[in-house]
Amino acid sequence: MEILVTGGRGALGRHVVRRLTDAGQQVRLLSRRPRPADAPPGVTWLTGDQTDPDAMRAALVGVEAVVHCATNYLRPREDLVGARVLAQAASHAGRPHVVCLGIVGSDRIPYSYYRAKVQVETILTESGLPVTVQRATQFHELFVLAARLLGRSPIVPVPAGFRAQPIAAVDVAERVAELAVGPALGRAPDLGGPVIHDMADLVKTALRRLGKRRLVVPIPLVGKIAHGFRAGYNLAPEHAEGRMTFEEFLDQTGVAA
Ligand SMILES: NC(=O)c1ccc[n+]([C@@H]2O[C@H](COP(=O)([O-])OP(=O)(O)OC[C@H]3O[C@@H](n4cnc5c(N)ncnc54)[C@H](OP(=O)(O)O)[C@@H]3O)[C@@H](O)[C@H]2O)c1
Repeated sequence: MEILVTGGRGALGRHVVRRLTDAGQQVRLLSRRPRPADAPPGVTWLTGDQTDPDAMRAALVGVEAVVHCATNYLRPREDLVGARVLAQAASHAGRPHVVCLGIVGSDRIPYSYYRAKVQVETILTESGLPVTVQRATQFHELFVLAARLLGRSPIVPVPAGFRAQPIAAVDVAERVAELAVGPALGRAPDLGGPVIHDMADLVKTALRRLGKRRLVVPIPLVGKIAHGFRAGYNLAPEHAEGRMTFEEFLDQTGVAA
């Protein structure tokens, strides 16, 4: 199959690209950047922006499935434009199966990025295209990044009572690569990591692995977003299907002890 992976350089997209090429699929990778010297072998590299209708029309010619991983965490409104452009371009290009990545609990936690994610899901599902929405819990990568950033200060504040069920991006990629070559499911069952942790413990573990001795201080937060996380809306305990634990991820990625 000819499959387009948007955001194919990102934390998830790079694993999706690898999975699909290993399975013998023809992969087009969309990135805003020019092809680098270390581009994955056997991949057609397309430089373009998800918000550019011409780039998206060109990227979609002859494509049978799209794994839509492009996202802009800092400017989520760009993702809404991207979803509309993708829907329109795909409708004129043979109506490929679109696999859209979402976040567990995004419809119950009123955080601006999550709201945008829900809107992207709605734009794509209401487009009439064959669509599969796969929501996942937070990736392990996110907590290492958080520990790196928060660890710049000697005292590390962490929201009190928040839990997380982190999953390896590679496990999400495996699921998504299977979905891409199958029929559209609408909303697929959520996907979560193997273990639910206290968020403070995750940050402590990552800080320790990074060699940063820091005082982690739980901070009580108020408001609807904090309520959503304390209530566990970001968790999928009934879908703890990711295999790699946070500790295994730290071992595998060489986050030093
Ligand atoms: N991270 C998590 O914990 C998590 C959890 C659940 C679901 N998800 C979802 O999984 C998907 C992938 O997330 P991720 O963490 O892999 O994101 P990421 O690492 O930030 O990768 C996203 C990629 O999108 C590309 N991009 C950004 N703006 C673009 C634009 N205007 N046009 C084209 N490409 C653009 C960027 O690549 P270039 O710089 O190469 O253009 C970037 O590498 C997202 O839908 C996200 O919401 C993430």
